[in-house]
Amino acid sequence: MLGWRVTITFAAALPLALLANGCSDDGETSTGGNGTTTTGTTSTDPPGNAPTYYKDVAPILMDNCASCHRAEGIAPFSFLTYEDAKIAAYSIRNTTEQRLMPPFVLDNTGDCNTYSDARWLTDEQIKTIGDWVEAEMPEGDPADGPEIPPPPVGLDRVDVTFDMGVEYTPDASLTDDYRCFIIDPQLANDAYMIASEVIPGDQRVVHHAILYALDDESAEQAAADKDNQDNRPGYPCFGGAGVNARWLVGWAPGGRATTYPEGTGIKLEAGRKAVLQVHYNLSNGPMPDRTRVDLKLAPSVDKEAAVTPLPALNLNLPPGQERAEASFQFTLPAQTPEITIYGVGPHMHTLGKTMDVSAVRGDDETCLARVTNWNFHWQSNSFYTTPIRVRGGDTLKITCGFDTTRRTEPTTWGEGTEDEMCIAFLYMTR
Ligand code: HEC
Repeated sequence: MLGWRVTITFAAALPLALLANGCSDDGETSTGGNGTTTTGTTSTDPPGNAPTYYKDVAPILMDNCASCHRAEGIAPFSFLTYEDAKIAAYSIRNTTEQRLMPPFVLDNTGDCNTYSDARWLTDEQIKTIGDWVEAEMPEGDPADGPEIPPPPVGLDRVDVTFDMGVEYTPDASLTDDYRCFIIDPQLANDAYMIASEVIPGDQRVVHHAILYALDDESAEQAAADKDNQDNRPGYPCFGGAGVNARWLVGWAPGGRATTYPEGTGIKLEAGRKAVLQVHYNLSNGPMPDRTRVDLKLAPSVDKEAAVTPLPALNLNLPPGQERAEASFQFTLPAQTPEITIYGVGPHMHTLGKTMDVSAVRGDDETCLARVTNWNFHWQSNSFYTTPIRVRGGDTLKITCGFDTTRRTEPTTWGEGTEDEMCIAFLYMTR
């Protein structure tokens, strides 16, 4: 479909790039007046210029944390009141300073792009929180405080739902159960997916979910054969659909409704089936689940998009290394028409630490993605604030860094939890 393809013989194994989008908030965080501090005018204000909860800190927490840290959210505790924030103050400071929270694996500093859906605090916001904790968490005047934001909303219209159809109870003998379910959405006409929302049935067990399209009869047959191997719903699979399949939508904790860049969408073919891969983590117990994916469709789009993998397949990592690398580069054939890259979803497994992706044209190198604190549990596919164009002759490069200190054997490419991957999934149009 696109003018180039990386030769991949394991297409079926292509896994997990999660279009997890933001739980938070769009990065356009209000700073709640920090930077324009005035000296205390009310009796509750601290001496000097120390930030207060209501005026300075609450706006940051409401915009960037409250979508998950609320009673019905996925985080283990809520940050909606002064008391909540005060109790957790030190860990709020530490996790924000280390950029562990809000969770976002891509570098959004601007050194290598910014993302329209980044979950990200500015350095100034991090400093405001630090200064507030340093000043022993002054409360300030409630009248200065922001409203508590409403919970995140879903799609404004749902045209088709991909539903597992049955409840599946994960296998209690496993810590992680990776299960694939065949779904027939009964689409009467070809259509383009322009927005999506994955709705996990039970967030206590669902760790990731990915929807794949099956594009031909043989893929559907292969999936059906796997499905018939036991009489429980679905079939086991890790890291992908286990059959030749095309990635459509991914979800990781905190993911919510995503709208694709204006004028773009991913094609769905009439009458074709799909596979929903769900990663169940059993640490909370084997709760039954029925996950679904809602899509908003358009009959046509200006530009058909595809999620195209740039993988370092030659991955072979020696054990016992603090940094073992895998890399790959690919030069677009000269006749390749201009391609617009709208976003990126990095994917590695649990040994992954860093990823650098770039496009090289002559002496110019354009950064496509940088990951410095990879976390397998917070995968996301994010959209650039400004899309990037590449063309024939450009070389796309990817390098991943892994920590193999705890391994005694070499680690190679594969779908297993013990195997590794190094892939950048690029959301692109031609
Ligand atoms: C996308 C959802 C999401 C957002 C947004 C989010 N958190 Fe979290 N947070 C979680 C989850 C889930 C956990 C539980 C631990 C984990 O899974 O990493 C957590 C854990 C934490 C912890 C405890 C960490 C620990 O080591 O015990 C702190 C502190 C925290 N978050 C602070 C924040 C702050 C501050 C913000 C906003 C600046 C924020 N979080 C935004 C989901 C989120």
